[in-house]
Amino acid sequence: MNPLLFCLDGNLALQTGLAAAARLQPAVCQLRQFPDEESYVRVLSDVQGRDAVILCSLHGPDKRFIPLCFLMETLREMGTRSVGLVAPYLAYMRQDQRFHPGEAVSARLFAALLAPHIDWLVTVDPHLHRIHDLGTLYPVPHRVVHAAPALAAWIPGKIARPLLIGPDSESEQWVSEVARLAKAPFIVLQKMRLGDREVAVSVPDIQRWREHTPVLIDDIISTGHTLLETAGHLQRAGMRPPVALAVHGVYAEHAQRDLQAAGIQVFTSNSIRHASNAIDLSTLLAQAIKELAP
Ligand code: R5P
Repeated sequence: MNPLLFCLDGNLALQTGLAAAARLQPAVCQLRQFPDEESYVRVLSDVQGRDAVILCSLHGPDKRFIPLCFLMETLREMGTRSVGLVAPYLAYMRQDQRFHPGEAVSARLFAALLAPHIDWLVTVDPHLHRIHDLGTLYPVPHRVVHAAPALAAWIPGKIARPLLIGPDSESEQWVSEVARLAKAPFIVLQKMRLGDREVAVSVPDIQRWREHTPVLIDDIISTGHTLLETAGHLQRAGMRPPVALAVHGVYAEHAQRDLQAAGIQVFTSNSIRHASNAIDLSTLLAQAIKELAP
């Protein structure tokens, strides 16, 4: 029998795409909060003897983690054979070292809480920077899906004379690959993070690219300040209005409003459900699921 597919993050479009592409059977659970904000989880499908896949991007992780754990363990108590997690966005990956004495290394700690509940894991471009191998955090069978082919395929025909721009050295891994696949030129800028909501970006001499359309490429849009700062510099340098492509549109705080106000057109993958979703990851994710689901 085909594995069951539960969707915990409301991304029903991706659930439908995955169910079709990976031949999974959509399944149903009920989630709600009690008045005191405790989580209520109820499995409504017959899961005895079945394999289960849970789709749950982990933006806003603190509020998603408890219902996710409750679902995974309830599935096991109800006789599910295996539980795989498809978390297109994996949380806490940026806090991957102790930057100041006494800080929690959240990437490691969050993984230690989550990993014992799952039989396998599929994610999309996790923010692997100082930790290079996802397996050191999540010692379970796993696949890292790269969104670069989907981002690259989206560009031709939509953007005339693109110049791909990575806002910081960490983005080079994504921007160089998208540029190679889209056969477009790219540059990588230098970013200094001054605080949670403050970044400074340096832009090299870009006069030679003035006839190109700047396409900012990043893995995550959180507060949007990285994109805003980069776009501001490009504008002052006389470049055309930029377009931004990101894998994960987290859109923390006022990010969407601020990016809109700055006139930056943003397109994201559907790793997190959002109105800016333009790039579908179903096919890439389905391939990884088929390799891991029993
Ligand atoms: C950081 O290294 C990431 O690649 C992104 O550039 C960053 O997470 C974006 O955050 P924000 O939107 O808050 O500037």
